[in-house]
Amino acid sequence: PGRVRIHHLQQAKDEGRHFAMLTAYDQYAAQVFDDAGIEVLLIGDSAANNVLGHATTLPITLDEMILFSRTVSLAASTALVVADLPFGSYEVSPEQAVESSVRLLKEGLVHAVKMEGSAAYAETVRALVRAGIPVMAHIGFTPQSEHALGGYRVQGRGETAQRLLDDALALEEAGAFCVLMEMVPDEVARSIDTALGVPTIGIGAGAGTTGQVLVWQDMAGLRGGRQAKFVKQYADLRGTLSEAARSFAADVRSGTFPGPEHSF
Ligand code: KIV
Ligand code: NA
Repeated sequence: PGRVRIHHLQQAKDEGRHFAMLTAYDQYAAQVFDDAGIEVLLIGDSAANNVLGHATTLPITLDEMILFSRTVSLAASTALVVADLPFGSYEVSPEQAVESSVRLLKEGLVHAVKMEGSAAYAETVRALVRAGIPVMAHIGFTPQSEHALGGYRVQGRGETAQRLLDDALALEEAGAFCVLMEMVPDEVARSIDTALGVPTIGIGAGAGTTGQVLVWQDMAGLRGGRQAKFVKQYADLRGTLSEAARSFAADVRSGTFPGPEHSF
């Protein structure tokens, strides 16, 4: 199959089909998901939590995002590859956002960027689109603002639903090719998907969005610990890896590994 392009995501929306996005930060995960037909790979700034060991997404730098992005981009032959603009790399001005995004495309080899933010960032979206850079908007719970939002909380409940819809419409109007919603009530996300012409992607946003995304280590059960309500775990990689490591260590201690077949 050929490369997934932004117009294929639009086609999915127009034809009432859903598509899948997973995060990826390294070569093998990217290869596996690309081969599995995952339409979009996201180098999320969640690499801060899921690779680098930070407590939030805030510490990851643009240089670090570029490193992960290039690895995933080189490994993916069909998926559309999207990278997050990390905290601090776009808020100052549309110019700063263009400079950071150009680096993600030029050095990270990605096809599009994702940016957290409300209608206040419409001008920034416009500047990116003018530069030929496709933008996925990210609204609802935006983890880079977790200190301002008071932690991980559902957004768009009650009367704030209208503001979320206004944000989505403004970002679409500014040229975003897709709007991602995180931790938004099902019915709110559904009505936003209906109101927008462009596709939507949800995480903790119910079943009414065009696409769905999960962090891959959550999806595959590598992370361990308590999972968010919106995660569905499709494998037990942590258990599988732990078992493999214990078996290896036991074989080494007992002298069972290496056997003659592993020796020269
Ligand atoms: O960084 C990330 O992983 C994300 C998605 C989960 C939406 O932004
Ligand atoms: Na992110």
